[in-house]
Amino acid sequence: PIPVITIDGPTASGKGTVAHRVADRLSFHYLDSGALYRLTALAALEQGIALDDEHALAELARGLPCRFQAQSVLLAGRDVSEAIRAEQVGNAASRIAVLPALRRALVGLQLSFRQAPGLVADGRDMGTVIFPDADLKVFLTASVEARAQRRYKQLIDKGISASMDDLLKDLKERDARDSNRAVAPLKPAEGAYLLDTSEMTADRAVEQVLGWYAE
Ligand code: CDP
Repeated sequence: PIPVITIDGPTASGKGTVAHRVADRLSFHYLDSGALYRLTALAALEQGIALDDEHALAELARGLPCRFQAQSVLLAGRDVSEAIRAEQVGNAASRIAVLPALRRALVGLQLSFRQAPGLVADGRDMGTVIFPDADLKVFLTASVEARAQRRYKQLIDKGISASMDDLLKDLKERDARDSNRAVAPLKPAEGAYLLDTSEMTADRAVEQVLGWYAE
């Protein structure tokens, strides 16, 4: 079977950066599964589909006209790489991610990313639900303070003003929603290696994951 490395973890844990770099180092494909939830959320917001209309959202996700090319994400041919990163879209993504039918509708698309020579998949349920037979499973964490700090810096670097208090509150809300939902709650997969990156650079985390993979 084609090798898969799964990297799951809470919001702003740095898993996107780490997963992407690990994929580059191994020349593997990369799946940002959160982007699929964000794309569905963006399309729903644009089409005026209610964020609790499970049937309509599942339908939308099943036929999601998305494409990943180089550094860009396309929705119906339009570059939405920036648009899906908006706070509002992230919030909507986290709300629709609790719906079982919507999650099921995205399974096939996620599996289709498993192509030679290999895949690094990042998300919440990559090791628990989508790729339970992965060759290496990593659960990346960081303290809520470290994660809020990182998000703060990201926003300031982009010239967006931010408040630490609001960020902390938002992170905790999202953690609660991701961990307490009935389907695919965020938790370490069986056999996952835990990596706490609170006091670790992304580079060190990348080396650790590559080291585990080489074992
Ligand atoms: O930036 P952040 O880590 O919050 O978000 P993301 O990884 O881009 O994912 C957006 C939302 O999709 C998250 O809030 C999760 O609730 C949801 N998600 C999920 O349920 N399962 C996944 N495999 C990936 C994301």
